[in-house]
Amino acid sequence: MRASTDSPNGGAPALLKSRFPPATSDFPSLMSAPATDLAAAGAHANQSGRRQILVTSALPYANGQIHIGHLVEYIQTDIWVRALRMHGHEVYYVGADDTHGTPVMLRAEKEGLTPQQLIARVWQEHKRDFDSFGVSFDNYYSTDSEENRVLSESVYLALKEAGFIETRDIEQAYDPVKNMFLPDRFIKGECPKCGAKDQYGDSCEVCGSTYAPTDLKNPYSVVSGATPIRKTSTHYFFRLSDARCEDFLRGWVSGLAQPEATNKMREWLGESGESKLADWDISRDAPYFGFEIPSAPGKYFYVWLDAPVGYYASFKNLCEKRGLDFEAWVKAGSKTEQYHFIGKDILYFHTLFWPAMLQFSGHRTPTNVFAHGFLTVDGAKMSKSRGTFITAQSYVDTGLNPEWLRYYFAAKLNSTMEDLDLNLEDFQARVNSDLVGKYINIASRAAGFLIKRFDGRVQDSAMHHPLLEQLRAAIAQIAAHYEAREYSRALRQTMELADAVNGYVDTAKPWEQARDPANPVALHETCSVSLEAFRLLSLALKPVLPALAEGVEQFLAIEPLTWADAGKALSSQQPINAYRHLMTRVDPKQIEALLAANRDSLQATEAPAAAAAEATRKSKAAREAKKPAADETPEVISIDDFAKIDLRVALIVDCNIVEGSDKLLQLTLDVGEEKTRNVFSGIRSAYKPEDLKGKLTVMVANLAPRKMKFGMSEGMVLAASAADEKAEPGLYILEPHSGAKPGMRVR
Ligand code: MSP
Ligand code: ZN
Repeated sequence: MRASTDSPNGGAPALLKSRFPPATSDFPSLMSAPATDLAAAGAHANQSGRRQILVTSALPYANGQIHIGHLVEYIQTDIWVRALRMHGHEVYYVGADDTHGTPVMLRAEKEGLTPQQLIARVWQEHKRDFDSFGVSFDNYYSTDSEENRVLSESVYLALKEAGFIETRDIEQAYDPVKNMFLPDRFIKGECPKCGAKDQYGDSCEVCGSTYAPTDLKNPYSVVSGATPIRKTSTHYFFRLSDARCEDFLRGWVSGLAQPEATNKMREWLGESGESKLADWDISRDAPYFGFEIPSAPGKYFYVWLDAPVGYYASFKNLCEKRGLDFEAWVKAGSKTEQYHFIGKDILYFHTLFWPAMLQFSGHRTPTNVFAHGFLTVDGAKMSKSRGTFITAQSYVDTGLNPEWLRYYFAAKLNSTMEDLDLNLEDFQARVNSDLVGKYINIASRAAGFLIKRFDGRVQDSAMHHPLLEQLRAAIAQIAAHYEAREYSRALRQTMELADAVNGYVDTAKPWEQARDPANPVALHETCSVSLEAFRLLSLALKPVLPALAEGVEQFLAIEPLTWADAGKALSSQQPINAYRHLMTRVDPKQIEALLAANRDSLQATEAPAAAAAEATRKSKAAREAKKPAADETPEVISIDDFAKIDLRVALIVDCNIVEGSDKLLQLTLDVGEEKTRNVFSGIRSAYKPEDLKGKLTVMVANLAPRKMKFGMSEGMVLAASAADEKAEPGLYILEPHSGAKPGMRVR
């Protein structure tokens, strides 16, 4: 599903030289970024206007599955990356699994695996999920890599050299049975306020009060159950309180794109000269899964030190593969751009530690950090008991189209850190009414006439219709909305244009124009305008719906769309291909199945490993439920499922042998439409043409047309045969009782 960016499209069917200026000059405003993004104000473009841009999403922890909350971020980033690639910029999008730390270590132990075995398995799962949702990483790597070890060490040594590292003895909770220091989340006890049992060391889930881990009554180690003791050990610190950090960060913060982020930063920094920044503990004692600190045996880098360096490690690995100059991208003063997409929960790490680490280790600093809000489902936090803790895999396995979710998230996303809600009813409504009802239907309405009546060729003079000029002019604005991360605006504008196109079709009434065969010009114009409008709407939606766009490009027989294609048009030189349905509607049953697949029993919630196994089992069951095996009785379907099949009485007006085929007969069927249908049917072994001519039968009228060697087949006639056709040959076409008329619905 990768957008083809390496070869910006120069070869769309026809360039309307007389009417349109060269494509790039249509978009002068897009070469510099929208005013809201200070970041891009410093953007550097080489002489051809081609910017060099490195983009990341946060690295997901390697101890859990990807869920739809995560997907908000990866989809948001991917849309942005694709929109920028469509300008022809040099864009690299890298990610990796965040593998180090105590949770991964303990989880591996519980599953009887080495940490390396666990993270290798999780990497495969994460990669599979990102591929399913069209997240087009140029490289997906791991923080447990040699590149990351080398880079983390070199960043650390540079910071040390510059006087930013110091050691200090601190006292911490220690598990005397397991012989390890305990991170806060591995200690539980009774709430000091209300006495509730089994509460974490930071806050009580029962009364909501917050406190320090040392306040817990009767604390115990989640790992061994032992009572933690206090123990002293030497830790390494990054001196964020150093005046140089404060000075640097005060300047850097002024370039942040999001006012909320700037405000947070100012809060953390305090008044000038006040420096509220605390030093940062960057070491953990063995046993720990991570990188050992140089010249500090038994001390490891805290996971949050090597995690952001993991962005660079992944990019370095990509540079090695592609022969790019890594140093030129990351060294101080680099003219390239660098953006990090993250959730608002990890802003602190990305706007304080990470820029300071880079600045004082001789690297360039991020051009900008873009934080998004958190996802809720049906207005509440994702919950296992409600089934709204939805994994990426369960979504795919239930048969839901990943591009529906991309569309829905995009329709809700803007450039702020506001939370967003996935309302499942609204999800169905938007996909079905906007995406399918308003957009896809434009193509399905126009394509049939164009293929049947006009050899699949558009009317060139129609390409200058004012409606199309309006759409072309809007594309530059829509592209700018994407770049400003105002996706909901981009989609709102696109859907308003789709409304205008539907209004045009409703006024022109092609179905009436078609009844006047004496004047095909009007019908031809209507179909041509709608189809070209459909091409332009597809262009506007391409960053969000890359797989669908690919289907559209095949259907219209055009090169991969880029923003420059707004200045082009379909041409009569290149006939379109037959229309195959591009996207189906959401079926409410799928949503029910999705919630069921993610609904955990109480027991499962308590045992994460069992819950994961359960989820896998459930989604496997969902997958198997989708398709009945040939030898089984098919699954029971609802009346609504049955109603989707358009069965009609058909009169066989003509029937002929097909030259070159001993299986097929060619049927000409009248199903009460103005034009007859052409259907190829594999019934020659049972019937001669003269047996069938003039008879009635039943056909499936809404089957997607299929291109066969001998021509287009526009439906299917129904025939009965034994389950095992070899054991009991014989084929019997269905025939209605007398009195039935061609075109009658069978239901
Ligand atoms: N490993 C760290 C990031 C290290 S980056 C150097 C981490 N991992 S995570 O798996 O917990 O989250 C990955 C990203 O997904 C984060 O940006 C986080 O904000 C985002 N989200 C996780 N749950 C989310 C929602 N429910 N909603 C929106 N984003 C969510 O943090
Ligand atoms: Zn309490």
